[in-house]
Amino acid sequence: MSIDYNQKIPNNVDLAGDRALQRALEHWQPEFVKWWGDMGPAGTRDTDVYLRTAVSAEPKGWAHYDYVKMHDYRWGIFLAPAETDRLIGFGAHKGEPAWQEVPGEYRSNLRRLIVTQGDTEPASVEQQRHLGLTCPSLYDLRNLFQVNVEEGRHLWAMVYLLHAHFGRDGREEAEALLERRSGDADNPRILGAFNEPTPDWLSFFMFTYFTDRDGKFQLYSLAESGFDPLARTTRFMLTEEAHHMFIGQSGLARIITRTCDAMVACGTDDPARLRAEGVIDLPTIQRYLNFHFSVTMDLFGADVSSNAATFYSTGLKGRFNEARIEDDHLLNGATYPVLEIRDGRLVTVDAPALNALNERLRDDFIKDAVAGITRWNRIVEKTGTSMRLKAPHKAFNRRIGPLAAAHIDPEGNIVDATQWQRQAIDWLPSPGDRAFVASLMGRVVEPGRFANWIAPPPRGIDNHPLDFTYVRFN
Ligand SMILES: [Fe+2]
Ligand SMILES: [Fe+2]
Repeated sequence: MSIDYNQKIPNNVDLAGDRALQRALEHWQPEFVKWWGDMGPAGTRDTDVYLRTAVSAEPKGWAHYDYVKMHDYRWGIFLAPAETDRLIGFGAHKGEPAWQEVPGEYRSNLRRLIVTQGDTEPASVEQQRHLGLTCPSLYDLRNLFQVNVEEGRHLWAMVYLLHAHFGRDGREEAEALLERRSGDADNPRILGAFNEPTPDWLSFFMFTYFTDRDGKFQLYSLAESGFDPLARTTRFMLTEEAHHMFIGQSGLARIITRTCDAMVACGTDDPARLRAEGVIDLPTIQRYLNFHFSVTMDLFGADVSSNAATFYSTGLKGRFNEARIEDDHLLNGATYPVLEIRDGRLVTVDAPALNALNERLRDDFIKDAVAGITRWNRIVEKTGTSMRLKAPHKAFNRRIGPLAAAHIDPEGNIVDATQWQRQAIDWLPSPGDRAFVASLMGRVVEPGRFANWIAPPPRGIDNHPLDFTYVRFN
């Protein structure tokens, strides 16, 4: 199961045993490298970064650290070890052996799931492309680059599936993944949140906390797939995804710590005075949180969706922790509560559980995301302020599904257009907020130094001290 790095494309899928596939991927590789050069982290050609690279897909093998030149990073294809005699766990094919090849009748739906997941990976690299130029420390810069190379590898993971199992149209989709561009008016990325800019580090940490967590829940659902290569690929991706969410969780905890320290030192929670101290006031952090939470809510798709029902009942995409759920794994006749707008109010109604699978996954996500917010509030509580950070209502600021038809405030009340216009400035980052946060962003690259608006982390990477040279500029 160890990974051969002497090959052009490191892999644990015996690529050398399938010459046609190997050639096809070696043909795509230079296109990928060109895309990385054009759209990957800016100004990193000669930069050595202390990165984690997978050397095997076994539990201990994927955390090997060393300096790597960003441009020479070896993106590989790694599947989690096969489970012998794995059976499909849900839907019409429940109890049948998992598929090693794509069933003809599910081909286009499976391809669509893989392409939609695959498209998010290069999108986030594009969104984060310029952040290295304003890093708050070498430690953070290294973490950004770690996320970037792994998102690049996640693209490889999806492209491998397209090349290995979908023939010519798979190869065309793999090319299109390098052609779409985050935020491009003519050829945007597929999902909304992946076309939003990530202009500053507060946005980056919010993105890795909330939007990478959407990735976690999508990957968990795909890891249940009856199509075994997809299940094995996504299971391995989850090991990397956990680190991305850690970066978001800890990054935000450090920003909040720094702000709270300033609140105590200055004896105030007045945003203007705290801004004058060069830290980010909690109401601004809350507005960023509201924004990233709500755009991530939309990533789960429509509340009631016949596609979600089809993906589940045909065994392509399961639920989060499917095997741990105690029911028939078919969902025939079962219901699940969803929100609807009736007579100007939000009401909960029962929908067929099969059609409400997006909503169920969204609820699973919310439980997970709220846990971290509770941890941040422990930092806030210690200052004695009554302020708390809070997840907005899941219907707030939606762009997708029936809830997008109304203006809904962070508490879940429907408000009219005038009220929305007037109060949006309290709920979402204003141009002034964004300009203030942008004004704090400066490049800190002296080992052991941290920007004023963020506290140092409690410990370094791979047991190294905080003043370790995590990134070397040549
Ligand atoms: Fe990813
Ligand atoms: Fe990620």
